[in-house]
Amino acid sequence: MSSDEMKQRAAEAALKYVEENTVVGVGTGSTVNYFIDALSRIKHRIEGAVSSSAMTTERLKACKIPVLDLNAAGPLPLYVDGADEVNHQLQMIKGGGGALTREKIIAAASEQFVCIADQSKRVDVLGAFPLPVEVIPMARSYVGRELLKRGGQPVLRENFITDNGNLILDVYNLQILEPTKLEAELNHIAGIVTVGLFAQRPADVLLLGTADGVQTIQA
Ligand code: A5P
Repeated sequence: MSSDEMKQRAAEAALKYVEENTVVGVGTGSTVNYFIDALSRIKHRIEGAVSSSAMTTERLKACKIPVLDLNAAGPLPLYVDGADEVNHQLQMIKGGGGALTREKIIAAASEQFVCIADQSKRVDVLGAFPLPVEVIPMARSYVGRELLKRGGQPVLRENFITDNGNLILDVYNLQILEPTKLEAELNHIAGIVTVGLFAQRPADVLLLGTADGVQTIQA
């Protein structure tokens, strides 16, 4: 079975977490795109969605799902998003698609975070996938030096500007043994907007698409 089929299965399984007449937080990426397609089938049963990126907004609108502002929607019961890596504590590396800041905001504002992923995303230790860090443009070099001091190898993502007008440094060479500690430490570096480490607020449920079906894993 292809990884796309596993992504689709995980995405379809997330539908059962959607409650009637609520607003759903929607992440970004190829797995989430399958979720949006599934959500469009039940769009008459929800109030709408809060989007984590311009890309997701475009797809939601194409599916005629109302896109609402997070400030107006208030706390959300559910956020559904993919991940680049997820460990056994359901802590994640995210931001491969560059939408990490809005994703982190919606995750923080949501009661339940359901992560949807194919089995290739499951890891014992986070860090083989380069850690995306969103930085204010003028802080790029300073933040790069600070990341080097911590053993990382930051590489500027070429020809990429985030939805917030910032840059992404992809940090290679990290073996993240203490995700919560590293997230807190990097959050304190001036000029970093968001670290793509979702450890302080991990997922609550992981729907993992495998060749044998979808595994439901609770934190
Ligand atoms: C987007 O910024 C990321 O956080 C995505 O959630 C992540 O890259 C997963 O993407 P795929 O579903 O395309 O693998």
